[in-house]
Amino acid sequence: MSVPESLTTEKLLSHPSVMRVIDKINQEFIERTAYQPPVCDVFAAPATELKNDDTYGFETDREAREQLPDIIGNQVQRIVGKAGFGEDTEKGYTRPRTIGIVFSGGPSPGGHNVIAGIYDAAKKVNPKSVILGFLLGPDGIIENEVIEITGAMVDAHRNMGGFTMIKTGRTKIDTSQKMAFSRETCKKLNLDALVVVGGDDSNTNAAFLAQEMAADGILVIGVPKTIDGDIQVRDINGEVLCAMSFGFHTAARAFSNAIGNLCTDSSSDVKYWHICKVMGRVASHLALEVALQTHASMTLIGEDLADYTDQRRLDRAAATNTIDYSAYGITLRHLSRVICDGIVKRAAVGKKYGVIVIPEGILEFVNEIQVFILKLSTIIADHNATHDLNFHKTFPLLEDKLEFLRRMARLSEEQQSINVWNRRDDDLFNDLPVFFQEGLLTERDSHGNFQFSQVETDKVIMGLVRDYLDILREQGKYKVGIEKAYYQKTLEQGGLDPALFGPVLFRNYGQAPYLLVKETIISLKTLTQALEAANVLDQGAPIPAPVEKIFRKSVPDFKTQTHFYGYDGRGNDPTRFDCIYTYNLGWTVFNLVANGATGQMAAIKNLEKEFSTWEPVGIPIASLMHLEERKGKLELVIEKSIVDIHSNAFRVAKASRENWLAAFPGEDNFRKPGPIRFTGKSEEDRPITLALNAIGR
Ligand code: FBP
Repeated sequence: MSVPESLTTEKLLSHPSVMRVIDKINQEFIERTAYQPPVCDVFAAPATELKNDDTYGFETDREAREQLPDIIGNQVQRIVGKAGFGEDTEKGYTRPRTIGIVFSGGPSPGGHNVIAGIYDAAKKVNPKSVILGFLLGPDGIIENEVIEITGAMVDAHRNMGGFTMIKTGRTKIDTSQKMAFSRETCKKLNLDALVVVGGDDSNTNAAFLAQEMAADGILVIGVPKTIDGDIQVRDINGEVLCAMSFGFHTAARAFSNAIGNLCTDSSSDVKYWHICKVMGRVASHLALEVALQTHASMTLIGEDLADYTDQRRLDRAAATNTIDYSAYGITLRHLSRVICDGIVKRAAVGKKYGVIVIPEGILEFVNEIQVFILKLSTIIADHNATHDLNFHKTFPLLEDKLEFLRRMARLSEEQQSINVWNRRDDDLFNDLPVFFQEGLLTERDSHGNFQFSQVETDKVIMGLVRDYLDILREQGKYKVGIEKAYYQKTLEQGGLDPALFGPVLFRNYGQAPYLLVKETIISLKTLTQALEAANVLDQGAPIPAPVEKIFRKSVPDFKTQTHFYGYDGRGNDPTRFDCIYTYNLGWTVFNLVANGATGQMAAIKNLEKEFSTWEPVGIPIASLMHLEERKGKLELVIEKSIVDIHSNAFRVAKASRENWLAAFPGEDNFRKPGPIRFTGKSEEDRPITLALNAIGR
């Protein structure tokens, strides 16, 4: 292509059309930053006050009562409007405040709107209020790395994704020294309040910070953030106070758009199974929402698999008057069988393609892996505590780690003691593929959590699936069904009588629209034998070409493409639902702070219903805590919400499984949610999971 001499690269770059089309300020950015989300009615009032609502109850943990005495008595607080400030409130509600905000943990779409909500609410009440942002997560508090958030910064990030404005980090404020540094920073900055935007562990941290700084009068408020959707709060009577953490909807919609497109591609070129691992450290909420949005051929839900019981084993044991405890819960082997079953059924109706959704945290629900994760987490934590040395620094190579485990197993045998790692564990562990051993030994995060995103879960599972499919192929049970009309046409064109060969070749000839080659015919040799035995082929004669063609078509070729949906969805610009939700969370935070609340998590009740019913509340964090094993010892943490297999959302997905697997002749039942639209209705209203779970309540 010839380039006009006058158009140098310099000139090209300064050409107005070029500058316009490559400008980072694009139409999407302009529309997003200009959008003003609506606020709950109560925030239109000149002032607000908090009303304790003792109709909501929680079962508080004894340890939480001991460790968090200043906030354990908190109740659910409703924010209600006030017609005027009154004498006292004027001083309190409208006085200028300094509020610090920190993002903690993985990014989650909508975080910037939490800041925008706090900023707008604070400035509306008193323009002299200052909002500070701690940089790079909790490290920013510990090291006093902070910036003042200006109106221009807020405006440039309204309704935009990521946590780019102040960044985030995963440090946990888990030692008395880190706690002391944090307290010092907050005091130095004269903070009235600290806002921790984070997941279950970060909100746990918020409760401890609230306790630590109660004496200083510094308030601490948590905000439920995580794409994983595992912060959901119900009271003791099952009343929903927080239906979902923010960012979940956006990530799920982003994953669903991409996976929906794969469904289209796979049913177009009909040759690949797409294996899609989706984020969600433990809970399968994201996978469930993706299933509801896309109707992918198969979606595994960890919580459902964990509920599995092997009835045959139980019956066998019952016959000998015993109980086989290994019959409860799922094993990797059985999990691979479940997947193979779907693949084989679809192949039987000619569908050699499909889409499988695997939650990132599925291994947490698989019996033997769960045990390994627990044991290895304990070993790593024990080593770090005993030697004051990081396990991964002491044993940098996999071989070093394996040798250390081997020594533990040997010691346990020699001492004949019950140790956390024994010979059986070691043998089983050494049978795993190297990449999986490395994954299971990977460094835990600062909260002691196993980092599922670092493990090639899909590779482990699909390796077993392939092995089992090979066995089924050998046994003649895994075949591609041949459409009857195609079979007839092929034979007739070759001058053969379909009715003569049909009963010899197929096990269901004349009974079904898709014909399945007999189990005994698994090679050209066995095909020849079958034809000769039925006297449709002379001894030693070659197989007629049309028959061979049909046979070859019936032999499955399992081809896969693997995908990981995580960081991409996490960085997506928020859905309209998440924009409105987070902006209102920001307003809720400010109104909790302005009314003196601490140790509370800002939430919006009725999120699962129409916007007009949304109600801003404060939820007592200390009441949500329980003891859990972390880094080998019991720690107070907020309990993660996992998928409730009795919920409407799960029951709908379970009842639709056969339909979505579509192991029948004809079209698949894939659903296209399409990309996230900033304007427009339906998909963007709220997660399908929430809409379903609200029915009947
Ligand atoms: P948060 O719980 O901090 O919100 O993070 C959730 C998550 O996105 C998980 O889905 C995922 O397993 C993990 O973060 C990945 O962590 P990292 O960003 O450290 O790789």
